[in-house]
Order: sequence, then structure tokens, then C-alpha cells
Amino acid sequence: MPAAAPPLARSAAHPLRLAVLALGLVLLVSVWLVLPAAACAQPAAGAQLFEAHCAGCHLQGGNIIRRRKTLKLAALERESIASPEAIAAIAAAGLGQMSGYGEVLGPGGSEAVGDWVWQQAQAGWPRG
Ligand code: HEC
Repeated sequence: MPAAAPPLARSAAHPLRLAVLALGLVLLVSVWLVLPAAACAQPAAGAQLFEAHCAGCHLQGGNIIRRRKTLKLAALERESIASPEAIAAIAAAGLGQMSGYGEVLGPGGSEAVGDWVWQQAQAGWPRG
């Protein structure tokens, strides 16, 4: 019985090794393709979340309900909320007349939208 094993192993080893190599290559390439996309996911998610949950009242960083309470840099500085963390906190918990959106934004959502709003404010809301 043991004498029959080596030829079998030899004939099976080659295609098997090729398959493992191919699988490894596919995995390597997909990780290589997916990693940069994951790194970019944060700003894109922030923009989409803003579009879905904030733009209704804060179109292009404005405020349709309370005209002075905009997301423009000057207004954020005046209100001492000029940081991504402070914006994220308001996005999650609300402020005055604005209710909190922590639940609909999901895990990490308020941080993503806070980062994005802060970037937009610093850039002067170029694309709003
Ligand atoms: C239904 C309308 C509405 C929506 C939707 C909304 N906001 Fe607001 N937001 C307001 C109002 C009204 C205020 C002013 C609150 C106050 O001071 O009484 C405000 C204030 C703010 C402020 C403070 C701005 C300042 O100059 O004082 C930030 C930051 C903010 N909102 C971020 C967000 C983000 C991020 C979202 C999306 C997750 C969002 N808001 C969604 C109505 C809204």
C-alpha cells in the first residue's frame, strides 16, 4: 500500500500546486485592488451620508431653517464647532432645533460625515 502512494502523490501534486498558486495570486491581486478602495471609502461615505441626511437642510453648507447656523467655516468658528469631532457630535446628537442623526448615520457614520463637512468648510464648499 505505501508503495502505491508516491506515484499518486507525484501526479496529483503538480496540478494541485498550480491551483494553490493561482488561488494565491487571485487573492493577492484582489487585496491589492480592494485596499486602495477601502482607504478612499471614508470621504465617499461622508459625501453620500451628507447627501442623504443633511443636504435637505444644509444644501451647499447653508441652513434653510436658521440662516446664520450654516456649515461654512466662519459660522462654525463663531459657534466654536470648528473641528470634525465637534461636527460629528452634532450630527449624532443634534443641536437646538436640529435633531440627532446618530442612528440613521450608522456606526462610524457621524465621524465620516463630520470629516467630510469639515473638509468642505475648509475648502469653501466647492461642490456642496
Ligand atoms: C431638518 C433639518 C436639518 C437636517 C436634516 C440637519 N440639520 Fe444640521 N442644523 C439644522 C438647524 C435648524 C440647525 C441650527 C440648530 C440651532 O442652533 O438651533 C443646525 C445646525 C447644525 C450645525 C451647527 C452649525 C452652526 O453654524 O451653528 C451643524 C454642524 C450641523 N447642523 C450639521 C448637520 C449634519 C452633519 C447633518 C446631517 C447628519 C445635519 N446637520 C442635518 C437643521 C438640520
